Formats: sequence, structure tokens, C-alpha cells
Amino acid sequence: CGIVGYAGTRPALGIVLDGLRRLEYRGYDSAGVAVVCEDELLTEKRAGKLANLEKALSERSGPDGLSDGGTASMGIGDGTTGIGHTRWATHGGPTDRNAHPHVARDGRVAVIHNGIIENFAKLRAELEADGVQFTSDTDTECVAHLLSAELTRLRTAGEANGPQLLAAAMRSVCQRLEGAFTLLAVDAALPGVVVGARRNSPLVVGRGVGENYLASDVSAFIEHTREAVELGQDQVVLITGDAIEITDFDGQPATGKDFHIDWDSSAAEKGGHEYFMLKEIAEQPQAIADTLLGRLTDSGEIMLDEVRLSDQDLRDVDKVFIVACGTAYHSGLVAKYAIEHWTRIPCEVELASEFRYRDPVLDRSTLVVAISQSGETMDTLMALRHAKAQKARVLAICNTNGSTIPRESDAVLYTHGGPEIAVASTKAFLTQLVACYLIGLHLAQVRGNLYADEAGAIVEQLLKVPDKIRELLAGIDPVRQLARDLKAAPTVLFIGRHVGYPVALEGALKLKELAYMHAEGFAAGELKHGPIALIDQGTPVVCVVPSPAGRGMLHDKIVSNIQEVRARGARTIVIAEEGDTAVLPYADHVIYVPRTPTLLAPLMTTIPLQVFACEIAAARGHDVDQPRNLAKSVTVE
Ligand code: G6P
Repeated sequence: CGIVGYAGTRPALGIVLDGLRRLEYRGYDSAGVAVVCEDELLTEKRAGKLANLEKALSERSGPDGLSDGGTASMGIGDGTTGIGHTRWATHGGPTDRNAHPHVARDGRVAVIHNGIIENFAKLRAELEADGVQFTSDTDTECVAHLLSAELTRLRTAGEANGPQLLAAAMRSVCQRLEGAFTLLAVDAALPGVVVGARRNSPLVVGRGVGENYLASDVSAFIEHTREAVELGQDQVVLITGDAIEITDFDGQPATGKDFHIDWDSSAAEKGGHEYFMLKEIAEQPQAIADTLLGRLTDSGEIMLDEVRLSDQDLRDVDKVFIVACGTAYHSGLVAKYAIEHWTRIPCEVELASEFRYRDPVLDRSTLVVAISQSGETMDTLMALRHAKAQKARVLAICNTNGSTIPRESDAVLYTHGGPEIAVASTKAFLTQLVACYLIGLHLAQVRGNLYADEAGAIVEQLLKVPDKIRELLAGIDPVRQLARDLKAAPTVLFIGRHVGYPVALEGALKLKELAYMHAEGFAAGELKHGPIALIDQGTPVVCVVPSPAGRGMLHDKIVSNIQEVRARGARTIVIAEEGDTAVLPYADHVIYVPRTPTLLAPLMTTIPLQVFACEIAAARGHDVDQPRNLAKSVTVE
């Protein structure tokens, strides 16, 4: 879920809604806002996308179109303190009543939440026994009631006053909560104050002049300020227009980590493209160039300064585990081929959500690489915590500065992909691949498996990739046409061998995510052991073919697999290297990509599959950037 809070002198509503628009990628099942105006709490919330909330707000009547008229002298558009939420449902379906904010029964305290409160059933039972009637099915509503009760208790006891009241109440409520949460709260009696708390979920403060912000990530307030403070684990923050006060859950003063945001806010806009996804596909050459920048010395050494693991630590590594989810997992599958080939260290890749539950064998000499675009994926975070508890070294590959996963890792290699807004990952995937290659090369150099000139030659190939991608994208139109032709196919299969296998998985995932079509990726050699039964007259099969130059045998094997599916009626769409004429007799369609060494080929072959999925989704009338049921950053397990 995405959350935003504002305290200052300007009307909060517009600022909060703008922030929500930028955070909508975190979930878009429903959205809501709460504004404190004089001493009234005004809220509005709606199921569905933000547009539904905006419509509801514009329908609120009042003399100036924003004021509510009637009871309140001023309206929701006037208050200068506000919070807003865009939801990805966990407890309770995506309905109006389950949308956030949740308001306590006194109608004075509003709360928004990201995460899952694991002991909510117990808390709810307690509150119900006290006569509280719940108006939603969410875990969050408990917090609103607990907070309001605690505020009353503190006021009566005279234990705190002024803005501190809300922070004090939040601290004692947090001590009762289990699970993961970012919470924001406002109290009608305390205009000008927003209080936030975080455990295991992200929360950053934006430091303005005469105004301050709270948000799940900086994109929510980047238009207004570039100065930010990252909150630590188990901290509560109180913001007013003039102050930011941070304490731990016991009330001891604490400090966050100040940082400057160097993204340009235009980086988070569509820049003339129809969808963010198309913009991000087009940005891939630059994203790769930026990720490679400064990582190779003149003498051909891979330089990963920020990887704070000593050469000795790296020499001691005897096993690598890669943990990740979704698209990032597919980058790990590619990395396995490169890392094992270059370093001769065994490398396993595992879905982060499975990792800790099967009790993997880890020790001090295990290197765990956690790959995550957002740096906030809870499954990946939990896997890394498990690895650390077992004394393994953890290296993060991440695109989001200061996020939780790199913060909790022993070392980090940042991808410099810039903000990725479309839910389906594109440029982050390619930059993750580049980061994995760099790590593999670095490990191999440090351990003496590769000489500097050998690693240097591979990096030189990597440095040529951005131009090759530009060339590939310049000729991509036939892929778009083909996608439109195939928009009604009931299923699309993807096959590949070696590093082409994870590319096939990624191509299928993109199609499922965006076009809501049945799609499966298979190892081409495995097809004949079962899935080939799926092939019917006209079934589209996308075949990812390796270079005939690099591993000739591999190439020939997949050409045979293409023949097998074609003989059974498949319509074959072959992704092959420029000049590969051997595939022509078996291909109904050929998409050529520029030549690259086999291990690096996914940097090319993935791209037509991204465009293919994007175009089919658009042709089927779907929302490309925000597919149904998904969220870009899933901060629950
Ligand atoms: C979500 C997104 C996927 C993404 C995955 C991992 O499920 O919908 O597109 O690949 O999370 O995200 P991460 O931020 O950890 O790379």
C-alpha cells in the first residue's frame, strides 16, 4: 500500500492526492484521505482506483466546490493537515468500507496502514468485548480504536498534552501490535499534527520549509522537497509544519538517516510515452550504462567499492544462494549460469517466499544475494533475515536507495535504473542482470578464476549493450504488429534453453501479468516430457534461441525442439541472433536481436518479450501500468 501525510500551511488535499498518484503503483484496490480542518475530521474513501476517490471528492458539494457546505464551515479542500492511502488488499476485500482511512468510533481519529497486524484477531476480540462495533473487515481498524482509547486515557491522566499526545498514544499502541506496519494517524483535536510509526514497512519523512511530509517512498513528495529522512525500525515520528520529532517505541529520542534525493522528478513522469512501461523499456540503454558506470578500472579490474565485503570474505565463499521474487527471481536464474561458469562456486536460486521455510543449509561461508527492485519486498526481506541469523553474508542488489533490504544487508550493489513506476518490471530486470554479471566477474577475479583481461573483455561486451538495445528498439515495430495479431490466442507458450530458459519464464510472466492470458515458460528440452501435449493447431510458441556461434550444440538442440512443436501445429515465433538463417525453415515469424555472447544474451532477448506483452495487453484494452490484482512492491508475506 502507499501512504502519504502532510502538515504545513497549504491545503493538504491536493498535495496528498498528488502523492497518492505517484504511489499508486504500490496498490490500487481502493484509496482514501482524511483531512483535519479546524477541529473537524473529514474523510472520503472509495474502492477502485484513485480516480474513483477523486470523483467522489469533486462531488462533495459546497460553495467553492471544495468546501463541504452544511455542517462544516470549511471543507475537506481547506484543511492543512492530511493523510492519504492507496491500498493493496490483505485483510478484507477491496470495498469502500475496507478502504483506508479507518476512523475510531468517536469520529475524531483516523488511521492509515501498510502491512499486516498479525495479532489483530485477538485485539479485535478484546475491543468487541468492550463494546466496539467494527465497521470494516480490516486489521487496521483495531489501531484506530486502540489509538482513540489511548488518547482518551492519556488526556484524562494528564500524562501528555499538545502534539505529543498523539505520538505518546501511537507509541503505546505500537507496543501492542505484532507484525509489519507503517501507520499514520491524525486527530481532529490536534490540527497541524501527523504522527507516523514503522516496523518492518517503509516510511520516509520529507523535510520542507514550513511544511513536512511522510510517505512510503520519496516519489510522493519529490515535487516539493529533495531532503528526506529515513526512519529506522520501531520508530515513531511526529511532524508539524515546523518540526520533525523522532522517538523509539519507548519514547527515547531517536534519529533517522538524512539523505538527499538526486532523482529528477521528471524521471517519474511518462515523458511523452503512452505508458510508463514503454518509457521504461526505452530507458533500458541508459539504465544499463548507468549501472555499469565507474565499475571498471583502466586495468580491467571490476570495482565494486560499495560492496563492503573484503576480498578475503569473497575468497572464503563456498556457496552462493540467490533469493528474490517475481521478475527479480528470473534475473537470479540467469545469474546462476554466469556465476557458476565464471567462478566455479555452486550457486542456487530460490524463491524468497520458500527459502526460510525449508531450513536451507547456510553458514559463514555462504554468500546470499538478495535481488529486489524496490528493496521492500517482504518475502525477500524475511529470506535475508533468515540468512543473516544463520551467519551467512548477505549482498543486496537493489534499485532503491536507502530501502530496507540494502539497509539490512552486509553489502549492496545498487542498480542505477532510476525510478520504475510500471508494475511490470523491465529496466530493473535488465539492470539486475548487469549487477549479477558484475558480481560474478568480481568474485571470479578476486578468487583467481578469471584474469583481468578476460573479465575486461566481458565488460567490454557489456559496455556495447546499450547501443545494441537502441538498435533493437529502433526496429521493434514488427513485434508490436505480431502482438496485435495474437491478442486473442487462448494460450502462449515460451521455450528456451540455458539462459534462454529464464528468459522464457520472464516472457510468460509478463504476458500473465499484463494481458491476463494463460502463458507458460518451459525449458525447451523438457517440453517433450509432458507440456508438448498442450500444443494444438495454431498455438503460439515463442522460442528463445541462443547464438549459433557461442554454444553450437545448444543452438542445434533448440532448433530440433522448434521442429518438434511445429510438427504438432504450433505457430512458432523465433527470437534469434542476427544472421542465424538456420531457424528460418521452422519459424513462422523471426525476430532478430543483435549479436552478444551467450551468457549476456538475455539483455537482448528479453526486450521483444517485454514489448510483446505490453502491446497485447494494450490491444486487449488492459491497463498496462497497473494490471489488476498486482502491486509493484508487495510488503506482506
Ligand atoms: C511484485 C511485482 C513484481 C516484482 C516482484 C519483486 O510482485 O509485481 O513485478 O518482480 O514484486 O519485486 P522487487 O521489488 O523485490 O524486485
